[in-house]
Amino acid sequence: MTTPVNVAEYEALAAEVLEAGLLGYYAGGAADERTLRENVEAFARRRLLPRVLVDVGSVDTRTTVLGAEISMPVLVAPTALHGMAHADAEPGMARAAAEAGTIFCLSSLATTRPSSVAAAVPDARKWFQLYVLKDRAVSRALLDEAVESGFEAILLTVDAPRAGRRERDLRTGFAVPEDIDMPAVREAVGAPRCPTPAEFFELVDPTLTWADLERLVDESPIPVLLKGVHAADDARRAVDHGAAGVIVSNHGGRQLDGVPATIDMLGPIAAEIGEEALVLMDGGIRRGTDVLVALALGAHAVLVGRPALWGLSVAGADGAAHVLELLREEIRLGLTLLGAPTPADVGPKHLL
Ligand code: FNR
Ligand code: LAC
Repeated sequence: MTTPVNVAEYEALAAEVLEAGLLGYYAGGAADERTLRENVEAFARRRLLPRVLVDVGSVDTRTTVLGAEISMPVLVAPTALHGMAHADAEPGMARAAAEAGTIFCLSSLATTRPSSVAAAVPDARKWFQLYVLKDRAVSRALLDEAVESGFEAILLTVDAPRAGRRERDLRTGFAVPEDIDMPAVREAVGAPRCPTPAEFFELVDPTLTWADLERLVDESPIPVLLKGVHAADDARRAVDHGAAGVIVSNHGGRQLDGVPATIDMLGPIAAEIGEEALVLMDGGIRRGTDVLVALALGAHAVLVGRPALWGLSVAGADGAAHVLELLREEIRLGLTLLGAPTPADVGPKHLL
């Protein structure tokens, strides 16, 4: 196998190594997958505008999110069931992120419990993605374990009161094999065996409102970010209810099909809260130049979901680390050619 030179090549290799059901679960979106495609295509329509005769003798990709310095404006998005992609599982993804100098976000639907990730990779910087379940004691137990294990922020996902219509999973009958477990969730709900993602979503509380966000912010000793925000006035409400910021996201096109590409929702949200709160985005980032477009439209940093999963699937922790390294090199070169020595220098003037 020749070593892939970009994310697309990792994606192609992952499609070869993954079993059909799992590949469909990872790659798929909701319904007609319009939003899934649009997330990527919307980046292809954007045009960067380099500024010349800027001293780019020293380009620095580092940035800061919630007080944490990271090596580049890219974090690893929370994605479910890493143990099905590779035996390195979530600890492998956390190690990859740590090696790349960035933050790993652990999904609620992880095959490794928060305390085990922390024990396996003590030097990893990590945030925890929370689903609030009907049984609040379960969410509380997850949150407490994450906080005790050194996770530094909570991503509260609010675009999935139930799962989108994932037709690839219906076709393949996607199921979780018996040797795979989500220990933290399964133990907290007292289930005899690991739920599938579809079964898990039956447990999620669809009655969540802004009052619940405020309560969570009050109870949480670590900052709370709202993940899955589409509209600028929702971003404003998030900040008014105590969120430290938002993640502009449509869940990688897996929830409501037909919503806009995330990159097209970003600008108004960044304009509304970007001066006072953290604005992250995810969905469709496949190149360092996509990251530059997001920065130009006001994101402080982005997250990658599938790209990291493709790396993990192909070559475990090393594969995921290589994907992140490729993105960092692309960002470094992109900043240089754009005439912006640091991520903070990228702005609207760099877009046509
Ligand atoms: C996700 N995503 C997700 N989000 C979340 O809040 N909790 C989760 O458990 C998951 N699980 C998950 C599984 C898989 C297989 C995918 C592809 C995605 C959404 C994820 O955090 C992120 O929003 C998208 O993946 C971003 O889009 P890209 O980078 O995959 O295009
Ligand atoms: C998904 C979940 C688990 O998108 O968030 O499959």
